[in-house]
Parts: sequence; structure tokens; C-alpha cells
Amino acid sequence: MIGVTGLGYWGPNLARNFDDLGVLSALCDLDPELRERYAARYPNARMHASFDDLLADDGVEAIVIATPVPTHYALARAALAAGKHVLVEKPPAMRAAEIDELVELAAERDLVLMPGHLLLYHPGIRKLKQLIDDGELGDVLCVYCNRQNLGIVRTNENALWSLGVHDLSVILYLLDEEPEICVAHGRDFLTEGVEDVVFCYLRFPSGKIAHMHLSWLDPHKMRRITVVGREKMVVFDDMELERKVTIYEKAPWKRTDSYGEWQTRSGDISIPKIPTDEPLKLECQEFIRLVRGEGDRRKVAEDGARVVRALDRLTESLRG
Ligand SMILES: NC(=O)c1ccc[n+]([C@@H]2O[C@H](COP(=O)([O-])OP(=O)(O)OC[C@H]3O[C@@H](n4cnc5c(N)ncnc54)[C@H](O)[C@@H]3O)[C@@H](O)[C@H]2O)c1
Repeated sequence: MIGVTGLGYWGPNLARNFDDLGVLSALCDLDPELRERYAARYPNARMHASFDDLLADDGVEAIVIATPVPTHYALARAALAAGKHVLVEKPPAMRAAEIDELVELAAERDLVLMPGHLLLYHPGIRKLKQLIDDGELGDVLCVYCNRQNLGIVRTNENALWSLGVHDLSVILYLLDEEPEICVAHGRDFLTEGVEDVVFCYLRFPSGKIAHMHLSWLDPHKMRRITVVGREKMVVFDDMELERKVTIYEKAPWKRTDSYGEWQTRSGDISIPKIPTDEPLKLECQEFIRLVRGEGDRRKVAEDGARVVRALDRLTESLRG
């Protein structure tokens, strides 16, 4: 049975899904008003006022952490040390050394350590992965991501940490490699020390490259991931309702005899049907599966660590 800690903005979405799936047994927040509100909504869940009380709840075998990012590492470590499986919101830690320690602890105790990388459970992203793995796109050459919006401009987290973590988790999932070069440039135009515009470049051992444009200062609202293959190209656009994924049969074809330029091939453009399942529900179901011993819990933890390591290196580059 599962306990959810952190009932601010995001935690209630996790609580609702685990309740719908019939496994919510406890809740926890430091804020008495939130405790009162959610105790009324989930009368069958035990309500705890401190994380230590939640850890001491023997009826809880797995803990979901939806507290602010700087608390993730310490809470996840305490939960694993107490023998509980952990689903921790993104990013699961702030430094490479911290996540490596959590992965080791989880492996030692054979516990689940799953980061809440929501986009990895989006059926559109799953489609991209399937197209790549089935060889539909040919060799993948590069991936680039646009996550821009003149929306809520956060002042406690920069665009790399707030927006980039989503794209980074997807890039590493799609390419399944650890980058050898991580470079980031950005500026803090609005809040001193908090970059609101960030450009990132990644290069992988296979030679593939990736780019992320992350910004709160932009005329466009964009949530787009483009994968360029030698045979086909594909775009995932989360702003679209019915065209989440578009496949373009466009590619360089052959060099012309006369000038040595590349001729290009431009064929059909297709839009596969993408299921409308709620990604958060799929993420919660995956956590339950892992807790029950299905799936590869070590790979999930290691994939999460890869994201934190790359974030750490990009942050170093940004500040460098
Ligand atoms: N996956 C997504 O798309 C997505 C979206 C939004 C937020 N998030 C993540 O969710 C997490 C929470 O974000 P939020 O916007 O809900 O934050 P929030 O500040 O609204 O809520 C955090 C809650 O945690 C509680 N809290 C803090 N320390 C605690 C502790 N030690 N024990 C128990 N409760 C504690 C606070 O009282 C607060 O109610 C962050 O990691 C954020 O990155 C993920």
C-alpha cells in the first residue's frame, strides 16, 4: 500500500491516481490546512503530520515524494533506509553524487527507486521510442526539443531545472546513451541568478547530437520534440490535440552527379493514432508493477540517475 507525501500543487494528482487504483493508504504534509482538506477527501487514508510518522506507518510499503526539489534526496534516502519503495518527483536529486548514493542504496536493499518523469509514460513519446527501436526512421542523427512559454516565470528554479528535466529525460530515453559532452548557455534576464532562457547541446558517444531550447521569454507556447532520422523524421507536439505525432517521409536521398549536392526525398506525411490514456495514471501503474516485482527496477533507477548526472553537468556548464 502507498503513502503520498507533499499535498501542494502536484501531490494531489498522484494521490487521486493511487486512490483510483485502490492502493492509497496514507497521506502526509507539514501544512495543517492541507492535511484537513485531504483528510476530508480521502477518509480511508491515514493522515500524517510528519515524514517520520509516515515512515513509521507499517501499513505503507511504498512512498511517493511530491515535495519541493531540494528535499527529494534526503526524504528518498530516509524512505529507502526505512525499507520503503520510492517514487520521487522529478528530479529525484540535485547532484550526481546524491543520486548515485540513492541508486546504490535501492540496489543494496532491492527496493524500487523510480523518478517521476511523466513524459516517459506519454503514449506519444512511447510511439517515438517504438519508431526509433523498430528502425522506421533509419539511423537517428539528432533530436531537438522546444519548451518555451511566456507563462508562470519561476523565481526559485531556472528554466533548465524546471523545464529541461522533462526533455532531458525523453532525449536519454529515446537515444538510450549517456552524453559525453553537455554544454549549456543561458541568461537570467528577470531574476538575478535564475536563468530564464537556456540553450543546451548534448553529444553522445555514437555521434548523435541533441539540443534543448528552454525559455519563459518567448512569443510561442511550444512543447515539441523533433527526431531526425536518415530515412524519416518525426515530431511530437504536445500542444496538438489530435496530431500529437507526425511522421514525415523526408530525407536526404543521393548526391547529384553534376554539382555533388544532396537530392532530397519528400513522401507521405502521416499521423498515427495515439491513445489518450492519462500519462500520470500510466506512471502510477508502472510504479505499482515495479513494487510487485514486475519489470526491471534497477534499470528504472539507473535511467533516473543518468538524467540527474546530465543535469548536474549542464548546470556546471551554465554556471562555468
Ligand atoms: N511531473 C510533473 O509534471 C510535475 C508538475 C508539477 C510539479 N512537479 C514536481 O512535484 C514536486 C512538488 O511540486 P509542487 O509544485 O506540488 O510543490 P508545492 O510547493 O506546491 O507543494 C509541496 C508540498 O510539500 C510539502 N512538504 C514540504 N516538505 C515536506 C516534508 N518534509 N514532509 C511532508 N510534506 C512536505 C509542503 O508543505 C507542500 O504542501 C516538485 O518536485 C515538482 O518538480 C512535477
